[in-house]
Amino acid sequence: MGTEQLREHVAQQLRRTRQRSALLTDSVDDDDLVRQHSRLMSPLVWDLAHIGNQEEIWLVRDVGGREPLRTDIDELYDAFQHPRAQRPQLPLLGPTEARGYVGQVRDKVLDVLERVPLEGRRLTEHAFAFGMIVQHEQQHDETMLATHQLRAGAPVLEAPPPPAASAGPLPAEVLVPGGAFTMGTSTEPWALDNERPAHTVHVDPFFIDTVPVTNRQYQRFIADGGYDHPRWWSEAGWAYRQRADLTAPRFWTREGERWLRRRFGMTEPVPPDEPVVHVCCYEAEAYAAWAGRRLPTEAEWEKAARFDPATGRSRRYPWGDADPTPEHANLGQRHLQPAPVGAYPSGASPLGVHQLIGDVWEWTSSEFHGYPGFVAFPYREYSEVFFGDEYRVLRGGSFGTDAAACRGTFRNWDYPIRRQIFAGFRTARDARPDELG
Ligand SMILES: [Fe+2]
Repeated sequence: MGTEQLREHVAQQLRRTRQRSALLTDSVDDDDLVRQHSRLMSPLVWDLAHIGNQEEIWLVRDVGGREPLRTDIDELYDAFQHPRAQRPQLPLLGPTEARGYVGQVRDKVLDVLERVPLEGRRLTEHAFAFGMIVQHEQQHDETMLATHQLRAGAPVLEAPPPPAASAGPLPAEVLVPGGAFTMGTSTEPWALDNERPAHTVHVDPFFIDTVPVTNRQYQRFIADGGYDHPRWWSEAGWAYRQRADLTAPRFWTREGERWLRRRFGMTEPVPPDEPVVHVCCYEAEAYAAWAGRRLPTEAEWEKAARFDPATGRSRRYPWGDADPTPEHANLGQRHLQPAPVGAYPSGASPLGVHQLIGDVWEWTSSEFHGYPGFVAFPYREYSEVFFGDEYRVLRGGSFGTDAAACRGTFRNWDYPIRRQIFAGFRTARDARPDELG
């Protein structure tokens, strides 16, 4: 891509992303914009001004070398200064002020984008800083979508239903051959620091579910007393199950013999063939143990998603190196729910694993650490400060994740108790020697 094409590409990504932020913040009234819908989340108006503040810090001040618009609010919108639960008490910009601020920042950024050299400095090489800010805004858009899901009241968002299943009968599981593969990337221009560098990882042969675990399957776990038997749960998982009184995925309620769920203000029967969503990592682990299986490691997930046995190389996405289209995966809030399993045959990996990208984030068994050779860039707070055993890695993105913020190498992380995120899972097991043919 030439420099002028790259500038046009960035401008288009910024525009498209801002349209989504506007939809998420203009679809509710001012009262809903400033209210805290859950202690787990910021008021939507905080996310909005925080998006603008990060854009100002990186693109206006650092990349552009311009005068700050408002240094006085940096502290208010520094995610490390104030936990989400306390943000409603802060003297935040109101809805009109916040919209005005993000608009002013954007005008300056578009001017910077036209003038700044996109070479000679690592931060601007391939427009990385712009890509980082696009991804940051998209990540907050997904967070705001989760806030919408937590919000009480009538529906305000609308979208067509996802496509129906079209893949035909699929095997329950797929064998992923053992051996080395390339994990992570050193070449993806907008990959974030924690996805780097590319490195070789050995994985023993294993089987992985062809598709994510569905509501139908998960209901069998519930019906079989899955939530009542500590034997399926880890010690920490059972303690949390007891403390939080977990009995079903979040947003589910029982009505006689059937399960209903609340989804963006609507109540509806739980669709059996969709991937289960709004389960925490402990629930995913318990289901897997009950099924005689386990969660995949992060490396196993990535090998199932990217490894091409014909060439031995790792692809950018399961379907190849092309950017995602609506044929490949359920991404970008095009639909307000996961698609039924089998809905994206064109998105399958070379080994035949489906729906790894989009639909639901997938919990893995791995804690969040830097890859060998990790270097924090451009700031430690993007990921390094979260490395350790507190967080679990999630992969693949959800229906609420934008294509710009999702790749075969993309890593998300969260506490294993979190259920408000759009997370589900698939299971895996070791292959036995007699199964390797
Ligand atoms: Fe942020």
